[in-house]
Amino acid sequence: MFNLSDILKKQTFTDEEIVYLLGLTDPQDCQKLKEEAYRRTTENTGNKVYYRGLIECSNICTANCRYCGIRKDNHNVKRYLMDKEDIVGQALWAADNGYGSICLQAGERHDEKFISFIEECLIEIHEKTVSEKLPDGLGITLSLGEQPIEVYERWAKASGNRRNLRYLARFETSNRELFDMLHSGKGNNEKVLDNRFRCLQNLRECGYQVGTGVMIGIPGQTLEDLCADIRMFQKLDVDMIGMGPYLMSEEADLVSLGQMENDKLFQLSLNMIAVCRLVLGNINIAAATALQVLHPEGRELGIEYGCNVIMPNLSPTKFRKGYQLYDFKPGLKDDPFTFGVRLESRINSRGREVGWNDSGSSKKWLMRSI
Ligand code: 5AD
Repeated sequence: MFNLSDILKKQTFTDEEIVYLLGLTDPQDCQKLKEEAYRRTTENTGNKVYYRGLIECSNICTANCRYCGIRKDNHNVKRYLMDKEDIVGQALWAADNGYGSICLQAGERHDEKFISFIEECLIEIHEKTVSEKLPDGLGITLSLGEQPIEVYERWAKASGNRRNLRYLARFETSNRELFDMLHSGKGNNEKVLDNRFRCLQNLRECGYQVGTGVMIGIPGQTLEDLCADIRMFQKLDVDMIGMGPYLMSEEADLVSLGQMENDKLFQLSLNMIAVCRLVLGNINIAAATALQVLHPEGRELGIEYGCNVIMPNLSPTKFRKGYQLYDFKPGLKDDPFTFGVRLESRINSRGREVGWNDSGSSKKWLMRSI
């Protein structure tokens, strides 16, 4: 039998203990898990929550991930690419308004036109955001999929700023069968899990703070799979994690497999955040937008369970309908220019402060790079 209070005092955990913690459902038990995760977040990373202004630059995608609402074969979505002026403009707005960093995210593209377009955006953002407030310029996180190491290197160079440079590439699940199921097209596996791991290694070589993550509650996924995901985070020695619940998309290709019931999926997602905090210590963990689909204060609860990063959406509202990775994505009409300020009071109500004008590098990475 497991004793929850004893387990929560530990520094290292067995697989069995991790699975037990992930599976907690009793409200009092979940409360204890939350309190311990929150305590360890403060202890390991401080009291601040960092903003990454999210700019969804484009929904044009060459990949056909079966779970995703903007997969290539979905012809119901109008494709867009933001202008350079708009992307840089949003980035400058972020810098001026105290967001220490932004995240540029888009569908996966490998053509030279796109690669050099991102390069040009990065050069301009850096040039225009180095200031007294931000001596290294605006912190940059890229989330632009699998790329050859040469491309990662080009973008790193263009960012002008390897001290505040990050990349987020989720591996989605460490269960190979499940990964293949999620990415198999007409008779072929479009994506290969080992390539994803190689990308993460290459990103490390190029000097990025390495972020990854998984989807929680994928049809067929077990608690043991999630435990294996956490072990993989450890093995990859990641600096940050962005993960969220798997949510069904009518525009994707997995509708027939359904989705976990909302309340259960929400608690499991929070448990996963908390257990990652317990096991992985001083990394950054982002409160995913997808949490907000399951609960009106989903991201705030994510903070209570161990997150220390949040990504307010800075994409102009006219593009948001085109970036529906899953159904019921919230914030379609949120005004990007006031959202961050309104969010602050909700963060304060959780006993946390916003890390204004700070790019919020993960403590894990800072200690690694001393
Ligand atoms: N539900 C939850 N997350 C999703 N993503 C894509 N589609 C979905 C979905 N249906 C996530 C994936 C991907 C990231 C860009 O968005 O984890 O890595």
